[in-house]
Amino acid sequence: MTGICSGRVAVVTGAGRGLGRAHALALAAEGAKVVVNDLGVGLDGAAETDGPAQRVVDEIRALGGEAVAHGGDIATTDGAASLVTTALEAFGRLDTLVNNAGFLRDRMLVNLDEDDWDAVMRVHLKGHFLPLKHAAEHWRAEAKGGRTPQARVVTTSSGAGLLGSVGQGNYSAAKAGIIGLTLVAAAEMGRYGIQVNAIAPAARTRMTEHTFAETMAAPGEGGFDAMAPENVSPLVVWLGSAASTGVTGRVFEVEGGRITVMEGWRPGPTADKGARWSPAEAGGAALGLLAASETPRPVYGTR
Ligand SMILES: NC(=O)c1ccc[n+]([C@@H]2O[C@H](COP(=O)([O-])OP(=O)(O)OC[C@H]3O[C@@H](n4cnc5c(N)ncnc54)[C@H](O)[C@@H]3O)[C@@H](O)[C@H]2O)c1
Repeated sequence: MTGICSGRVAVVTGAGRGLGRAHALALAAEGAKVVVNDLGVGLDGAAETDGPAQRVVDEIRALGGEAVAHGGDIATTDGAASLVTTALEAFGRLDTLVNNAGFLRDRMLVNLDEDDWDAVMRVHLKGHFLPLKHAAEHWRAEAKGGRTPQARVVTTSSGAGLLGSVGQGNYSAAKAGIIGLTLVAAAEMGRYGIQVNAIAPAARTRMTEHTFAETMAAPGEGGFDAMAPENVSPLVVWLGSAASTGVTGRVFEVEGGRITVMEGWRPGPTADKGARWSPAEAGGAALGLLAASETPRPVYGTR
């Protein structure tokens, strides 16, 4: 297959279903050879028995592409490191990492167990950090050997990470953390030829099809199926290709036919006394600044 990823090798985590599957198929359709990772867990991260990664590999091969399955847990050192060795052993190189795997344990904060906190932090934050670290180690060695790569990493945040989402305190914190990780990785790794960008997608997958059933519903015959996960993948493919040279450390919201650059925290109204405030003075100043500031976007799930 030829396309904007011809000759490139991509790893996609959590690619057995949902958005990851769509990304893997779209990367293969543009010529990439793909390592399709998926541990095959339930919606809450609990163990399941099926192996969805191999099914997606079979789909890619049936369409004339090249792919191999990887069934490891991306939040472990072995799982993350073997993503890289699998790419190198199967295809001889690694160019693109799409960090996508994850699951939810939604509860209001007062009902949220420590286990639900830890599991969501682990799969999203550590599950982003470890594959990124191992891929970057490989790319840094390439750069030091005089073979500076055109390496690309796409991370997966969420509107919940950008604005917060009621009932998703653990998930929102993890997805906000992924933005911080993305910014630092982009700043640290540019010198090795590595670009790192984040997406905040929205699409109909098992993660959303029940909770947001109405928003996610497919249209009647013939209409544009805005919430199909396949709509998110073209930007991921482009960010994962050499064509995106110069784009790094950015965050894109992607949904249906819409791509939005998210503009991050920046200083708003400010006051400087040039000396220490008293608490009462600090409060008065804060209220004045708030009155002059923009109203924040609402947290998802509030009005
Ligand atoms: N669907 C949406 O609207 C939406 C919105 C914002 C963010 N996201 C994010 O997009 C990503 C993909 O979500 P999705 O909606 O396709 O969900 P999904 O449940 O359909 O797919 C996630 C996949 O990750 C796999 N996985 C989970 N833990 C793993 C691990 N430790 N190692 C390897 N694989 C593992 C699961 O088996 C599953 O196949 C997630 O990070 C999610 O938080 C989705």
